[in-house]
Amino acid sequence: HKQLKAFPKDFLWGSASAAYQIEGAYREGGKGLSVWDKFVRIPGKTYEGTNGDVAVDHYHRYQEDVELMAKAGLKAYRFSIAWSRIFPEGNGKVNEEGVKFYDDLINDLIAHNIEPVVTIYHWDLPQALQDAYQGWESRKIIDDFVNYAKTLFEAYGDRVKYWVTLNEQNVFMQHGYLMASHPPAVTDPKRMYAANHIGNLANAAATKYFHEHHFQGKIGASFAYSPNYAVDADPENQLAADNAEQMNAYYWMDVYAYGRYPDVVRQWQIEQGIAPEIKPEDTELLEDPHSRPDFMGLNYYQTNTVQANPLKDGVGLAAENTSGKKGTAQESGIPGAFKSAENEHLQKTDWDWNIDPIGLRIALRRINSRYHLPVLITENGLGAFDTLEADHEIHDDYRIHFLREHVKAIHDAISDGVQVIGYTTWSFTDLLSWLNGYRKRYGFVYVNRDEESEKDLARYPKDSFYWYKQVIATNGEDL
Ligand code: BG6
Repeated sequence: HKQLKAFPKDFLWGSASAAYQIEGAYREGGKGLSVWDKFVRIPGKTYEGTNGDVAVDHYHRYQEDVELMAKAGLKAYRFSIAWSRIFPEGNGKVNEEGVKFYDDLINDLIAHNIEPVVTIYHWDLPQALQDAYQGWESRKIIDDFVNYAKTLFEAYGDRVKYWVTLNEQNVFMQHGYLMASHPPAVTDPKRMYAANHIGNLANAAATKYFHEHHFQGKIGASFAYSPNYAVDADPENQLAADNAEQMNAYYWMDVYAYGRYPDVVRQWQIEQGIAPEIKPEDTELLEDPHSRPDFMGLNYYQTNTVQANPLKDGVGLAAENTSGKKGTAQESGIPGAFKSAENEHLQKTDWDWNIDPIGLRIALRRINSRYHLPVLITENGLGAFDTLEADHEIHDDYRIHFLREHVKAIHDAISDGVQVIGYTTWSFTDLLSWLNGYRKRYGFVYVNRDEESEKDLARYPKDSFYWYKQVIATNGEDL
């Protein structure tokens, strides 16, 4: 068996969340509306019409949640800031009450020796910016995003050492502009790539601002990377897997790390007539050394297996972008490039996601060898049905098993020589799954609510809570 290296002493064992999925209080504290506040009200968009109006009421219960984090021994907590709490209109006047909410949260975390990891953007764009100029489709968002990020750096930069700029740009762009399953619910690849390019410019500009102004700490984006496997050794299928890596992974991560798009994807976009416009000043900004991330944020849930997808006459790009499942449109396939295949070696979750701990080791190694950046694993976890027993216990051995195997994979990757700086699991408490309601649970802490009723929103630690506490206390030795 392989010789294992110890986890680094300062490894950030933690957990994660996102504002819309936990806070609630969607019209309190001076908050403006976000695109999600509006989108969830369109009939048929979310599971049984669930929304985050109350979510798990973290806005009012954050102190109780932080107490529980301290009880679990968390070293880090990743959360996102709701842009519309800081700027109700997206720009203009700052809402001091919103600034204070996160200020209090950050101070409370630090008082409990928990390192705050702050996500600047986790999908809840202020509706005002969508209305004013169509959000990510306008270059106007670049200045507004930098101004928002700068406000956060100035308010919290003395205490926050880890910043995540954008969460899963590949997911919110593809769901938003290809599959129409997230706001603004568009199905148009050309618009998707155009908005995505603007997203890259905003990301680079905020990162550059951070570095040029010498804020302490590290900054990077979190990418949802699902490594692609070929279904077998047929070179056509191997080529399909390479297409999937180029289009679904390098296309985003290369821009973060190197400031350029892969040639193979650029060429394909030009052929399809869907290439984004890249101005000379864009290239300058993207390639500026100050725009480079300090780490690669990795959200890892599963791998994809693909096979060749020969072009049929008259089949356009959007034709197969109809996956109802999680994942991105491009995961289900692009004619001429690749399409999904079953992987007979893997088991699946209750929501049909492949369970593949070795895939995490592969993801870490691929990121390391292509980008040579430290990796912060900003999400990983199991969405499952949990049962609250009469004594308020939750026996989630399936979650413990899932996480244990993934921690082992991280340990292996570290032993392979990959620099991994932390692991913030998804999620700490149960929370709202954007499209799947409240029954798809990820937390170490059960929250007593469901789709039908908010009940009492009481918090109950699950068996996995105590397991993780032990993992942290032994720095990953006792699994
Ligand atoms: C990631 C997101 O895509 O996966 C989270 O960053 C999300 O916000 C998580 O909740 C799990 O996805 P889902 O669809 O099961 O909620």
